[in-house]
Amino acid sequence: AWLSYRSGSSTRGGVAKHAPSWIQHIIVNEKHEVLSTAVAELIQGLENIYGVKPTVNQAQSAQTNSDAAPGIWLGTWSGSSSVAGQFSESERTSVQGEGYAIRFNEELGQLAIGSESAQGVLYGTFHVLRELTLTPESSIDAEPLESRLRYIAEQPRNSLRMINQWDNVDGSIERGYAGDSIFYEKGEFTRDLGRIRDYARLLASTGINAISINNVNVHQRESLFLTEHFLGDVARVASEFRAYGIQLFLSVNYASPIEIGGLNTADPLDEQVREWWNVHTAKVYAAIPDFGGYLVKADSENRPGPFTYNRDHADGANMLAEALRPFDGVVIWRCFVYNCKQDWRDRSTDRARAAYDHFTPLDGRFADNVILQIKNGPMDFQVREAVSPLFGAMEQTNQVIEFQITQEYTGQQRHLCYLVPQWKDVLDFDTYAKGEGSEIKNIVDGSMFNRPYSGFAAVSNIGSDACWTGHPLAQANLYGYGRLAWNPELSAEEIAEEWIRLTFGHDEEVIHTISAMLLSSLDIYENYTAPLGVGWMVNPNHHYGPNVDGYEYSKWGTYHFADCEGIGVDRTVRSGTGYTSQYHQQNTDKYESLEQCPDELILFFHHVPYTHVLHSGKTVIQHIYDTHFEGATQATELANQWRSLEGKIDASIYDKVAALQEEQAEHSKEWRDMINTYFYRKSGIDDEQGRTIY
Ligand code: GCU
Repeated sequence: AWLSYRSGSSTRGGVAKHAPSWIQHIIVNEKHEVLSTAVAELIQGLENIYGVKPTVNQAQSAQTNSDAAPGIWLGTWSGSSSVAGQFSESERTSVQGEGYAIRFNEELGQLAIGSESAQGVLYGTFHVLRELTLTPESSIDAEPLESRLRYIAEQPRNSLRMINQWDNVDGSIERGYAGDSIFYEKGEFTRDLGRIRDYARLLASTGINAISINNVNVHQRESLFLTEHFLGDVARVASEFRAYGIQLFLSVNYASPIEIGGLNTADPLDEQVREWWNVHTAKVYAAIPDFGGYLVKADSENRPGPFTYNRDHADGANMLAEALRPFDGVVIWRCFVYNCKQDWRDRSTDRARAAYDHFTPLDGRFADNVILQIKNGPMDFQVREAVSPLFGAMEQTNQVIEFQITQEYTGQQRHLCYLVPQWKDVLDFDTYAKGEGSEIKNIVDGSMFNRPYSGFAAVSNIGSDACWTGHPLAQANLYGYGRLAWNPELSAEEIAEEWIRLTFGHDEEVIHTISAMLLSSLDIYENYTAPLGVGWMVNPNHHYGPNVDGYEYSKWGTYHFADCEGIGVDRTVRSGTGYTSQYHQQNTDKYESLEQCPDELILFFHHVPYTHVLHSGKTVIQHIYDTHFEGATQATELANQWRSLEGKIDASIYDKVAALQEEQAEHSKEWRDMINTYFYRKSGIDDEQGRTIY
């Protein structure tokens, strides 16, 4: 993946990249597990890049090493006066907690990587390794390495930067498209922790600092993770992540007191239930003192929750918060709560409304160690949907945003779909919660409402697959997610280029081609799948491939309402479900009005005739035909673009991607023809260009 350091390395050809003298020594004057990790990463990275194994001076006290010794100095402000001394006081105070500063001192030939915390030093170390890899040796125009490293200061924007595994203990992964779980096998934890450690490396190198290791749908056996039966295993996994500064969380079953505790209720106000959670939480902390807390999916898609006892979600979350508080743990409570047993005949219930309707009345009632985890959109990770109106609607509640890196609805890692541009759109969305400039990124980073907890969570896309992610280029989504959680201001283009250079090296044609493929892929996928924000149109259950009415007459609340005259969901206040009123006024006005609503979301907010003319000047039906013909053509072009790289990419990766792009090109035609044919038959309106529609 991006830690192969192949790009900087010419060692493969036998000749090492020229090694500056200061990379040959590593000096660290403190003892800390995460600092040892940083040292090990440096050794491995430098050896790969330069073919030189640096010596390490890992002294206990500052006296042992002369302050003037050249080399890479690692340390915290309080633990290493030599490192601290390389930075002014204001430079040191400008980076806090996990932030770091880097300075190259030319005179002494020293590179200092310093932080308030050991974790910050690790992030700084990965930054240096990234710079070393990203600086091409041969390029005359490139800024010399030392000047790139003269002074760097970084501070993560979000305090929680989390990954959610949806892994089951039987070894399967819910919505996993890259092989089996790397955590579990046949009902047990895996014995081989090497792969988990590698995963921790990958995650930490992008800045991830938290992980929940089991599916949010917690079944009977995973409920036992909280007990002696599995706690030893959980603790072993926690220590792999701890070495990389990543805190471990568990998804818990709300009904655990019944399922594994022998009680006959899980009522959050019942004393015995509260005691059960207190006792079990204390046991978890006895095994894992730095355990992060619980992730909870309650009253959602048939999972148990407080509704059973006529209690609300504040009651439920606060009970767990109380159990976790003595240990500084947090409850991450998901807002994906809706009626999944709807009657398709009932047009008044709108799934999109559900999270806001359930949670906004509870603002101010959640304990201070509860964080609500809110999906980016009100439905479910579609290629295009509106953004969740919950962001900016709960000023007194901690909130994190949830993205889905695993491509459940975006091609399942068989189609190329670089998701960073979608996430950027969401983060840059202006909620107007405090007037203009109230972007979602400023809400989820905690700054707008001054919240103590904030951040990002996302469903992972990795598995036991050799390339981690099924489609090798889907690694860019995992990498991009971590980078964006650290700094939401990075652009999709910057992240793509960085990832390509780290992964594939500096060949300009390779960079240019893969970058173009990645950056066009989301639009292409949207073109040949469900049109204009309406979503779904996939095969039920597994969600791969086209099926326009797959969910139309079902209980899930995901309808397009297409008939012979028109299509779309009327979510207006005037004539529909009133969902548009959940936004702040400027957005309500924009979405309520057919004239102002952006084309790409028209069918999310309005039911319109096929002859409705979009801002683009096209009718809805012609837009559907055009985008579907175009999308399929573009998917074929993607395959051609990749083919132009033959010989320039490692053969096994080349072959794998080539086969996947072929499949995508073929499968996009299936999408094109199913969608076009469906709407042609429903509407009876011909394609203006007379292309083949069956
Ligand atoms: C989707 C997905 C489920 C998942 C759920 C969730 O509905 O299809 O597999 O459990 O999201 O986010 O909880």
